[in-house]
Amino acid sequence: MDKNAKPIGLFDSGIGGTSIWKEIHAALPYEDTIYLADSNNAPYGLKPKQDIINLSIKNTEYLLSKGCKIIVVACNTATTNAIKKLREQYNVPFIGIEPAIKPAAIHTKTNTIGILATKGTLSSELFSQTVSGFRNINIIEQVGYGLVELIEEGKIYSDEMAALLHSYLQPMIAQNIDCLVLGCSHYPYLIPLLKQILPDNVTIIDSGEAVARQTKNILSANNLLNTSGKPGNAEFYTNADPKVLQSILGDSHSANRLDF
Ligand code: SIN
Repeated sequence: MDKNAKPIGLFDSGIGGTSIWKEIHAALPYEDTIYLADSNNAPYGLKPKQDIINLSIKNTEYLLSKGCKIIVVACNTATTNAIKKLREQYNVPFIGIEPAIKPAAIHTKTNTIGILATKGTLSSELFSQTVSGFRNINIIEQVGYGLVELIEEGKIYSDEMAALLHSYLQPMIAQNIDCLVLGCSHYPYLIPLLKQILPDNVTIIDSGEAVARQTKNILSANNLLNTSGKPGNAEFYTNADPKVLQSILGDSHSANRLDF
């Protein structure tokens, strides 16, 4: 197969990385894509680092077996804990997703930003390195305990979700944040709820567009862009009940069950 025609592979601990897929598909409409949701093992955020690495290797092996030319790690927890290992072990480009601290640091007027992410992301070495470059900014970190679980269960608009978000955001609001960084690819699905809770002056920042731009740049730099002009085909796989993934995708694509 022509190397440019090969698909882009994306994986996440579950359905959240579809928020990244949407941006990539919009920026690169001629690319075929294969999305893998490891929902049976979600959440990754509370797992030990070695488990996250092992699961990321397993997901990567699957996508490589399907001939993917580049892998997008559409999961913050897997990026911050495993991307270094993946890059050492495999000879394809990897794109990761990291919390967008830098744009928030540039944008803030109150000098105070909030970040909502998993325990695995906030306790990672990569995250510590990132924040160490912004010591002049007051960064309020909050682990989003329970959020990924509810999203994976299809309970975005539930009382439980609203109660958790209120409890996580109120302390940040009290400290006058004006930017909230979403440090987990599942969280963009919470934006309508977050907007109801946050004051109007708080900007919500996620990494989807930046990841899509970076994917395009890396494909271009490696002469791997698909310039056929033919709309890309998209395949979606999950190792759990495909119902929730399907509800996120709507009618335009189908979610397939795969045992991996
Ligand atoms: C998780 O599986 O806990 C969340 C995935 C992420 O960090 O994006």
